[in-house]
Amino acid sequence: MISGDSRYDRHLAGKGRLNAAERRGMAIYFSEKAECFHCHSGYNLNDQATHVGARRTGPLFHNTGLYNLGGTGAFPDDNQGLIEVTGRAGDMGAFRAPTLRNIAVTAPYMHDGSIATLREVVDFYAAGGRVVADGPNAGAAEPADSWTTLLQLQLKDSYSCDIERVLYSRHVAIGKDIGTEGRLRCLDRREYDFTRSRQHQKFTIRLCQPTVC
Ligand code: HEC
Repeated sequence: MISGDSRYDRHLAGKGRLNAAERRGMAIYFSEKAECFHCHSGYNLNDQATHVGARRTGPLFHNTGLYNLGGTGAFPDDNQGLIEVTGRAGDMGAFRAPTLRNIAVTAPYMHDGSIATLREVVDFYAAGGRVVADGPNAGAAEPADSWTTLLQLQLKDSYSCDIERVLYSRHVAIGKDIGTEGRLRCLDRREYDFTRSRQHQKFTIRLCQPTVC
């Protein structure tokens, strides 16, 4: 299914105009409030390539909070995402962001088809995680936690640290922004303090010395 000449493509190419509702939707989509474009971007509206021939090196798998089995953030068996390949706890429930091209005609949604309509997908993102009311997968999922994926990547790149676990983390108000700070332990027992003053900024990471923390 090819959608290279959609109304959106024509708008980008300067060959057509979006109507007011479409423009409002686009503004929300590309805003820091809804954040959709961070994972669904580029010509394919996913995060695997930004332009022909380019590959992104950022975090390519994300946990958007579909399940929280047993209160541990776990996903159903045989459906656990990247962890099934890497065995790393932080990869539980992490999936690739699929393209949103032709999305209106490819229901149902998510890797397991567990969301039936686009309306419900938007409600799911607005709620920051899904509540499965009953059945074997019942539970209220944690809000999407893309910051841990980013942190994980940065630690691996700069300090060769694989996170064993996040010891604590909290949101802190910094001016009008909400920042994040906390401490984590690597598999080799090193501990680091991390802070990030605004969403989408890199973390400042500091080795935790016994005399300092
Ligand atoms: C942190 C990254 C991230 C952000 C931000 C994000 N998504 Fe997603 N999105 C994903 C991932 C990963 C999946 C696949 C999850 C799965 O299969 O379980 C997905 C799936 C979807 C799907 C279903 C696609 C399909 O083919 O089943 C839709 C629709 C969607 N997202 C729309 C949005 C919208 C709209 C926003 C903004 C409100 C948004 N996404 C924000 C990562 C993200």
